[in-house]
Amino acid sequence: MPSISKKGQSMPQSPIRKLVPFAEKAYKQGKTVYHLNIGQPDIKTPQIALDAVKMHGLDILAYTRSEGSEAYRHKIGNYYAKNDIHVKHDDIIVTTGGSEALLFAFGSIMDVDDEIIIPEPFYANYNGFSIASGVKVVPVISKIENNFALPPIEEFEKLITPKTKGILICNPGNPTGYLYSKEEIRKLADIVKKHDLFLIADEVYREFAYDGAKHYSILQEEGLDDYAIVIDSVSKRYSMCGARIGCLVSKNKQVIQTALKFAQARLSPPTLAQIASEAALDTPQSYFDDVIEEYVERRNTLIAELNKVEGVKVANPKGAFYCIAELPIKNSDAFAQWLLEEFDVDGETVMVAPAAGFYSTPGVGLNQIRIAYVLNKESLVKAVNIIKEALKVYKE
Ligand SMILES: Cc1ncc(COP(=O)(O)O)c(C=O)c1O
Repeated sequence: MPSISKKGQSMPQSPIRKLVPFAEKAYKQGKTVYHLNIGQPDIKTPQIALDAVKMHGLDILAYTRSEGSEAYRHKIGNYYAKNDIHVKHDDIIVTTGGSEALLFAFGSIMDVDDEIIIPEPFYANYNGFSIASGVKVVPVISKIENNFALPPIEEFEKLITPKTKGILICNPGNPTGYLYSKEEIRKLADIVKKHDLFLIADEVYREFAYDGAKHYSILQEEGLDDYAIVIDSVSKRYSMCGARIGCLVSKNKQVIQTALKFAQARLSPPTLAQIASEAALDTPQSYFDDVIEEYVERRNTLIAELNKVEGVKVANPKGAFYCIAELPIKNSDAFAQWLLEEFDVDGETVMVAPAAGFYSTPGVGLNQIRIAYVLNKESLVKAVNIIKEALKVYKE
């Protein structure tokens, strides 16, 4: 039989999705499953975006330009301007989700065996994108005890080698909910300038900053035009995960010209979804005010409930809609599977994401899970209660 590539063999399974067959088994047994494993919000997509697709009036569902429709990119530019980020439409390439923007960014700045430094734990698919691009992830470890704050600058500098091409951050962070301060962004800016590296910031959760904190984009930092690459997406902002629209933004012309070649190779981002995404940009601020209020309440409920469970440690997320919880167990992979296969409270159970897949360091995060607070408060309370009852009887 012909053999599978080494790259293919080393692609990790997504910790967010790999337990789906066990969840399906639980449904077949008639159980209700609370999905805390995936960042699929239950928030309604703005009607204005859905209506735009219904009314599109197209005769041919044609390709758009590889960099995305010009009208849409102009409008994205206006959106950024409102957020005090000043970029032009030709600093933007529309992509098939933030996922493709990450692949284009990796492809544009790194060769096989190059290295990228990423604060760990990080969005699990950074591992997959790195393997797909033949790039090595060099983790810099942030800890639950410090609320996942950035490690000191010296920790980053120790890791820089001639193969290092960049630093990748997620702000606000999935899975930690960490929100970087202006000072921290400034420190990272100093490092990348000093060592001539790229700074990639995945800002797909930009709007989700809580407790009065304001998100500070790397594109707002002066003197970073040649270094900064932002990854963005409509998936979470407008609860439009299925639209598959994101973008890559950089004021570095070479980066944009190179990413455009990758974009040309896949021809065009989805046409109807760009229509929906363009319309979504007219969503009123009141939509976000309501959504943010809802997430803050969910976060407060979740963290308060988790803190009541004996042996559970949790950091307080300042943004996005995830948290990492440390449990009094040894292996959260086995625990998460057991929850689906063997455990229920009155016919209800929970699906969580084992956290080891959010690290690249082997053996780290094994006693942690990632929880997405994308369900209503009542469901969150029930879900944490299920975890609490499960921990009482779980035997490793
Ligand atoms: C941090 C982060 N970046 C990027 C993505 C990719 O999102 P999409 O491809 O749906 O835009 C996600 C999705 O969950 C994410 O959490």
